[in-house]
Amino acid sequence: SGDGSIEKEKTLAMIKPDGLFGSYTNAIKEIILDSGFSICKEMTIHLDEDTVKSFYAVHSSKSFFPSLVNYMTSGPVLIMVLEKVNAVADWRAMIGPTDARKAKVTHPNSIRAMCGLDSQTNCVHGSDSSESAAREISFFFKEASSAILTMGHAFVSF
Ligand code: TYD
Repeated sequence: SGDGSIEKEKTLAMIKPDGLFGSYTNAIKEIILDSGFSICKEMTIHLDEDTVKSFYAVHSSKSFFPSLVNYMTSGPVLIMVLEKVNAVADWRAMIGPTDARKAKVTHPNSIRAMCGLDSQTNCVHGSDSSESAAREISFFFKEASSAILTMGHAFVSF
């Protein structure tokens, strides 16, 4: 650039089924907007097994994987593309540690402390790097039409 402007960055955020079930959506969106993010894209969708397995493929050999797939398909999720300067790191900091029990102790103001339960049922997702953000955003949005075709019971709203 060189014109002194600071590049904005995008990250992928998701309110997981327990977040939607627990009616935390509005509170979380308020925190997002109050923190200076804009919400570029959003969709509410009930993910099917194959989509969750593909999204979390890096964890496929973990003992928690079947349980994770079960949880992530237990109800609809709200997926958002968030944008601001330093979006990836700032959103990760705001959601707090993976294990919500730990978050309640070490990061009491984090979103997972507010609405998560444990290391599986942790209410929200955030991309862990800019590479992950790019991959995850295109997984759900850039190839949206083909992704939706493979998302079995889709009630999609853009
Ligand atoms: P991970 O990438 O380690 O954490 P994060 O979501 O903070 O990036 O794990 C991805 C998801 O896998 C996590 O949000 C919930 C699930 N998970 C479990 O169900 N049990 C576990 O013990 C761990 C570590 C993760």
